[in-house]
Amino acid sequence: MNLYETCLLKGNEKGIKKAAELLRSGETVAIPTETVYGLAANALDDKAVRRIFEAKGRPRDNPLIVHISDINRLDELVADIPKSAMILADKYWPGPLTMIFNRSLIIPDSVSAGLSTVAVRMPSHPVARAIIKEADIPLAAPSANRSGSPSPTTAAHVLHDMRGRIPAVVDGGECIVGVESTVVDLTGNQPKLLRPGGITPEMLISVLGGLQIHPAVKSRLPDDEPAVSPGLKYKHYSPKADVVLVKAAPDRFADFVNSQKREGTAAMCFDGEEGTLQVPFVTYGSRHDLNAQARRVFDALRRLDDIGAATVYCSCPDEKGIGLAVYNRLLRATGYEVIELD
Ligand code: TXA
Ligand code: MG
Repeated sequence: MNLYETCLLKGNEKGIKKAAELLRSGETVAIPTETVYGLAANALDDKAVRRIFEAKGRPRDNPLIVHISDINRLDELVADIPKSAMILADKYWPGPLTMIFNRSLIIPDSVSAGLSTVAVRMPSHPVARAIIKEADIPLAAPSANRSGSPSPTTAAHVLHDMRGRIPAVVDGGECIVGVESTVVDLTGNQPKLLRPGGITPEMLISVLGGLQIHPAVKSRLPDDEPAVSPGLKYKHYSPKADVVLVKAAPDRFADFVNSQKREGTAAMCFDGEEGTLQVPFVTYGSRHDLNAQARRVFDALRRLDDIGAATVYCSCPDEKGIGLAVYNRLLRATGYEVIELD
């Protein structure tokens, strides 16, 4: 698809104005957020939203997150605001937290993929906020990758996937969180975590008291399970290679990977643990720096394609804090294939 001469806009006043103009005219624009780059369009314009699905090759039953820059815009999007949402918004907005509400009638079906709910988030990235404010419309935005690929954390990642498919990308530098927002469903009796992210379960529990964790966060959903969050059922974040997660101490990991060495075998490991590996590798932060792992995991998955890996053994991250989000993304990149070595 080569419909556009995709232009790379700077995250300055001129770029922000141009992006807002395109968005107001019903076009899509990739914008930086603190989590990952999003492919934005006017959330209240069904035709504009459809362009997002086309550009990404996204299944139509997977709903989108609506982004706002001002809490006063929440009312018109949702049918009701539970108390738990007010508490969470107070504490964690703007930031990497998405909340699911019952939707109002102005949300087009294409945004919520026919569900009775809508996902809303207020990002903290100054460029994202400036664009939403300048456009003066809520923006629907999934991650700005081709459907199935790792989410983009730089403008270069977006161009790699989307050049020719969208009119513009706004460059806001590298995303500082690096994994997509935490998604919490507030429409049931108890808040439920659907996707782990930068706002950790520990942070949610500290203000909510309790939190259910959807089983899909750590394990594969049975094929016949109706997905509450349709995105949970899709294989995602995958490089071209077959990825296998390996839970093991550093020495055991290297010995195991070396024993599997064949044409196309590669490793994804923590910084400083590549020493005895006899295969090509990429690293994704130190074993103990969970924030660095989150920031680097998607770029590392993309680099595996650059080195032509066919089978990748990936050192398994810790599941604490934001590590749960990294673990979840890797599990989904592997199709839930984990090997545990003692
Ligand atoms: O950090 C992020 O959340 C990024 C940036 C751009 O904001 N966006 C993002 O969007 O990751 P996307 O579309 O790649 O992921 C949205 C997830 C999907 O798993 C989708 O199924 C779920 O949120 N979702 C959206 N609306 C929902 C709803 N009404 N009910 C349940 N899940 C929903
Ligand atoms: Mg996505």
